[in-house]
Amino acid sequence: MMKALQIDGYCDRASAKLKEVKKPVADATGVVCKVVATSVNPLDWLFRNGVLADLIPVQFPHIIGWDFSGVVDSIGESVTDFQVGDKVYCRPEVTRNGSHAEYILVPEDHLAHMPKTISFSDAASVPIASITAWQALYDLGELREGDRVLIHAGAGSLGIMAIQLAKLKGAHVTATASAEKHSFVKSLGADVVIDYRTTAFEDVLSDLDVVLDTIGGQTQALSWQTLKKGGRLVAVNEPIDVSKAAEYPEVISRFLSIKPNKEILTRMAALLDEGKIRTIVGCVPSQYSETWSALLACTESYSVMSEAEEIELLSILRPQFRV
Ligand SMILES: NC(=O)c1ccc[n+]([C@@H]2O[C@H](COP(=O)([O-])OP(=O)(O)OC[C@H]3O[C@@H](n4cnc5c(N)ncnc54)[C@H](OP(=O)(O)O)[C@@H]3O)[C@@H](O)[C@H]2O)c1
Repeated sequence: MMKALQIDGYCDRASAKLKEVKKPVADATGVVCKVVATSVNPLDWLFRNGVLADLIPVQFPHIIGWDFSGVVDSIGESVTDFQVGDKVYCRPEVTRNGSHAEYILVPEDHLAHMPKTISFSDAASVPIASITAWQALYDLGELREGDRVLIHAGAGSLGIMAIQLAKLKGAHVTATASAEKHSFVKSLGADVVIDYRTTAFEDVLSDLDVVLDTIGGQTQALSWQTLKKGGRLVAVNEPIDVSKAAEYPEVISRFLSIKPNKEILTRMAALLDEGKIRTIVGCVPSQYSETWSALLACTESYSVMSEAEEIELLSILRPQFRV
């Protein structure tokens, strides 16, 4: 048996329950991992509230959480890439049981070896953010050297990765963030930072090659006009508004829904080990002494904070404070 945070159906934030459930067993191509660190993402509450129900059908009860680092506990007979004891990290498939658990079963082709030079805590903050940033900018955004890109929410977990990946590609990066985050966002490599609370980005930007829309709503609606002919708008929070797309036929617009991706995580591990990319985590609020109650509290309020600290069983990671 093992501990896990489980939901019995789509529910509000407070309805995940800490339960004793069966520890998974490796099938032929499966790897059972002992979770050392997991993170809390917007995906968790979007999923739990049923916002993604049509997009992501699941069976209940369901274990939540979709970002982890850990150690291989057992492997199926056909597994070739991993051995018991290997340090690994992963963004598991959302339709399967998640990572807010002591153990998780994942297919070996979803799993990657963890970067060698960073902690479990740091590694667990990487998968969702980096796969999303990579696919949004490099694949859907077709970002090229010298392109001018706007990254909305540059201080968010996704923005942190996106800024660094865009700079690696040799792009000129503008990011939006609250004023107090500007020096941090610049330290990631952003060339220009706009305070989205005081400055209308659409008034000061034009002829962009790529916009990464992590917000939706008005932010997406106003992003179209900042793009040049042939520019790419990539949305990750809200689907593309088709009426706007018809209004701007010269802009290529795409919505990204990410899947597990072993290859990107393997390449990210190399970039992290080479020091070309860094990750930033928040962690368990100090007033919570017990790991599971802390994780439960975090998933309920979706708020995690302060400096990283390794916790024996499980860490909760988030670059942001958000309530
Ligand atoms: N489609 C997919 O597969 C996929 C995958 C991953 C994430 N996502 C989505 O991507 C979004 C971002 O995720 P995340 O993990 O980066 O979230 P996060 O870490 O919680 O970051 C949220 C950020 O949003 C910023 N923000 C809020 N309102 C803003 C505005 N009007 N303009 C600019 N920035 C604003 C805040 O900036 P300040 O702190 O500077 O105020 C904060 O840093 C989420 O909606 C998530 O669901 C989608």
